[in-house]
Amino acid sequence: MRRLPFLFTAAFLFLAPLAEAVATEPFRVCLDPDTPPLSMVAGERHGVYYEVGERLARALDRPFQVYWWPTDLGKRAIRLTLLADRCDVMLGVPDVKGLMGPRLLVAGPLLELGYVLVLPEGNSVGAIEELRGRRVAVAFNSEAQNALATLDGVGPVTFREPEEALRALARGEVDAAFVWEAPVPWIERETGRRFTIVAVDGPRLRWRSAAGVARANKPLRDRLEELLRGMRDEIAAIARDYGLRQDGRIVWNWLPASAERQGSIAPAVAPGIVRVAAEAPAADDLQAIAERGRELFNSVLGCAHCHGPEAVGPDKPRDLRRMKIRYRTGWTEAYWQAVREGRLQTQSGLVMPAWKDTASEEDLKAILAWLTGLQVSR
Ligand code: HEC
Repeated sequence: MRRLPFLFTAAFLFLAPLAEAVATEPFRVCLDPDTPPLSMVAGERHGVYYEVGERLARALDRPFQVYWWPTDLGKRAIRLTLLADRCDVMLGVPDVKGLMGPRLLVAGPLLELGYVLVLPEGNSVGAIEELRGRRVAVAFNSEAQNALATLDGVGPVTFREPEEALRALARGEVDAAFVWEAPVPWIERETGRRFTIVAVDGPRLRWRSAAGVARANKPLRDRLEELLRGMRDEIAAIARDYGLRQDGRIVWNWLPASAERQGSIAPAVAPGIVRVAAEAPAADDLQAIAERGRELFNSVLGCAHCHGPEAVGPDKPRDLRRMKIRYRTGWTEAYWQAVREGRLQTQSGLVMPAWKDTASEEDLKAILAWLTGLQVSR
C-alpha cells in the first residue's frame, strides 16, 4: 500500500507530456490504405501523401493522426470521411472543379498524375501513332482503354488491373502498357525491371491531386494552400524518392473537343486513388452498382447464407470484409479466383461453390464494388 502514492506520482509524471500533446488538437488526415506509393498502411514507409501529411502537421505544430479509409468508392468515401468530420484533410483528391459541389474545398496541388505509356527500358515513343502494330496492355474500363480504342491498328490487350498489365510487360507478353502511373514504380520493384515512362497529356488523361478540406474549415484550407506552395520542391523530391518519374512526355488530343465539353472532364472521382477514379464508372454510378451488389449478396444470389448478412462472416476465413488484410493489393484477384472457380479445399472443410456459370460477370463485379467499400484495415 505504501507504494501507491509513488506510483501515482510516477504515472502522473509519465502522463504529463501526453496531456500536453492532447491539449493541441491532432491534425487528422484521411488516407487510402492501399494505393502504393501514394499512401499505404502496410510496410515501413507509408507513401508520398503520408509523408506530406506528416510535414504539414509539423508545420501546423499539431500531432499527426491518420485515418485509413479505402477510397475506392470515390465521392462516397469523401462523404463518409472528410465531410463527416472524421478527418481535417484528405490528401490526394483530384483537383477538379465541382467534384463535390461547394462542400469540398481544395488546396494544392500535391502531384500531377495520370496515364503513362510504359515501355521496356531503352525504348521510347515520340508520338502516339508509333504504337500502331504493337500490342498494348490496358486496364479494363480505364480512360486509357477508351482512348486507345480510337487509334486504328493497335492491338489492345486488356487486364483487370494496371498492375497485371505491367507484369505482362515485364514478362515480354506485350510491347507497352498504357496505364495510370502510380503502380509503375511498385511493379518495377517487384519485377526488378526498369521501364521507360512516357506521360501522355490529353483530355481526361492527366490531372492534379490536392488536399481536400470541408467547406466549414476554410481557414485551414487557406493555411494549407500557403504551406503547400512553399513545399512544392519538397513534395516533388518525396515523389521521386518513391520512384514516381517521367522519362518523356507526349501530347495526344484523342477526344474531340465537343465530347470533352459534354462529359464531366473529371477523371471521374476519387482521391489519391485516382486509380479507381480513372478506371471505374463515375462515382454515383459506382454507388448504384455497389447497392445492387449488396442486394445480390444478401438476397438474390444468397452469398450471405454462408458469408453472413452484410458480409460480416460467421468466422474469419469467411469474413469478406477482411480480404484486403488477407491479400493486400492482390485481394481483388483473390476475389475473382474464388468466385469464378470456387474453393474445394478449405480449412473448415466447407465448400465455396464456383459462380462462373451461375452468376453473370456484371453481378460479380457489382458485389466486388460493394465489398470494396466494406474492407476493414484491422
Ligand atoms: C455454400 C456456402 C457458400 C456460398 C453460398 C458462398 N460462399 Fe463464398 N466461400 C465459402 C467458403 C466455405 C469459402 C472459403 C473460406 C475459407 O477459405 O476457409 C468461401 C470463400 C469465398 C471468397 C474468398 C475469401 C477469401 O478471403 O479467400 C470469396 C471472395 C467468396 N467466397 C465470395 C462469395 C460470393 C460473392 C458468394 C455469392 C455469389 C459466395 N461466396 C457464396 C462458402 C460459400
